[in-house]
Amino acid sequence: MSEPSVSPDDKRPVLVTGGAGFIGSNLADRLASDGHRVLIYDALTRPGVERNLHWLRARHPALVHAVRADVRDSAALAAAAASVKAVFHLAAQVAVTTSLTDPIDDFQVNVAATVALLDALRRRGEPVPLIYASTNKVYGDLADIALRLEGEAYVPDDRNVRSSGAAETRPLDFHTPYGCSKGAADQYVLDYARSFGLPTCVMRMSCIYGPRQMGTEDQGWVAHFLIRALEGRPISIYGDGRQVRDILHVADAVDAYMAAWAKIAQVSGRAFNLGGGPNNAVSLRQLIGVMEGLLGRPVVLDYADWRAGDQRWYVSDTRRVRRELNLPQPRAWRDGVADLLAWLKSEREAAA
Ligand SMILES: NC(=O)c1ccc[n+]([C@@H]2O[C@H](COP(=O)([O-])OP(=O)(O)OC[C@H]3O[C@@H](n4cnc5c(N)ncnc54)[C@H](O)[C@@H]3O)[C@@H](O)[C@H]2O)c1
Repeated sequence: MSEPSVSPDDKRPVLVTGGAGFIGSNLADRLASDGHRVLIYDALTRPGVERNLHWLRARHPALVHAVRADVRDSAALAAAAASVKAVFHLAAQVAVTTSLTDPIDDFQVNVAATVALLDALRRRGEPVPLIYASTNKVYGDLADIALRLEGEAYVPDDRNVRSSGAAETRPLDFHTPYGCSKGAADQYVLDYARSFGLPTCVMRMSCIYGPRQMGTEDQGWVAHFLIRALEGRPISIYGDGRQVRDILHVADAVDAYMAAWAKIAQVSGRAFNLGGGPNNAVSLRQLIGVMEGLLGRPVVLDYADWRAGDQRWYVSDTRRVRRELNLPQPRAWRDGVADLLAWLKSEREAAA
């Protein structure tokens, strides 16, 4: 990262909610590697994330501490936030599918707990930075962007949209309970900067992938596809598999979070679209083609109907985040996917 990082001289910990999760554990590792004390707050509800926590503790025994608690426990959350120097808020109900079966739970975890956390910081009366993990789902299904099929992928008719992606200026249009809950939290986070002067920033992320991702059919599709293929099991494709996402390696996402913290004075109250950008836009079928090449064997696909709220095309316009946070070009998706595959293989070998 070209940006200077925040000095670890302030010995107070950094709070990472959801710090045992995929992005959270990668971020916590970077923070501790830079010399910061890290307080992880995680209910370990996602299967497999306890392995991430063991890994973090083994790597940074003196710097990483964890509280196993639910973000809906507002007293425990406020206690965890009481003396930290910054907060990265990543704990969430993360799946659109689950939000459709239990919207109340989704609301309580994603909205009510976020407001409770923000308010705990407000009541401290100090400018404690908070960076929030939001989603591209705040922009809805982008049905106004006319698309056409080109080979294995949907692409926008409009050349400018195709080459630049979806910008932060797009109107918000929350779809599905998950889109609503993440979007509402995103707006609260920004408003706590506006109304109370809390230094906050929002990352509206596209698909992040990489090591330590416990991908399932419901969330984390790049890792999920690779896991299924490694296990020789079929992959379910909802829709025609030509839907496109810009995928971003988690190391590049962590760079962006660290830079947002370092530059919080300049970017407070701002939301950024964070993804791989047009150079890393790939359809499900294109990804599977590359996976087959890496694995040296075909992958079996099962097709099913489209899922609610599934965008046919979503590619982030990353010009603003890269300019304002001074980020380098992210790694190319083919290299990143090979890196994730190597990690998944090494994990399997270690467990065998
Ligand atoms: N991975 C992506 O591509 C992506 C894209 C857009 C937004 N996001 C957002 O980024 C954040 C991190 O996502 P991730 O991919 O690392 O997911 P993840 O599931 O690996 O991490 C989330 C963590 O939160 C914890 N958690 C869940 N419910 C909790 C609760 N009630 N109390 C305390 N902890 C709880 C889980 O145990 C898990 O460790 C989430 O807020 C997610 O909505 C992720």
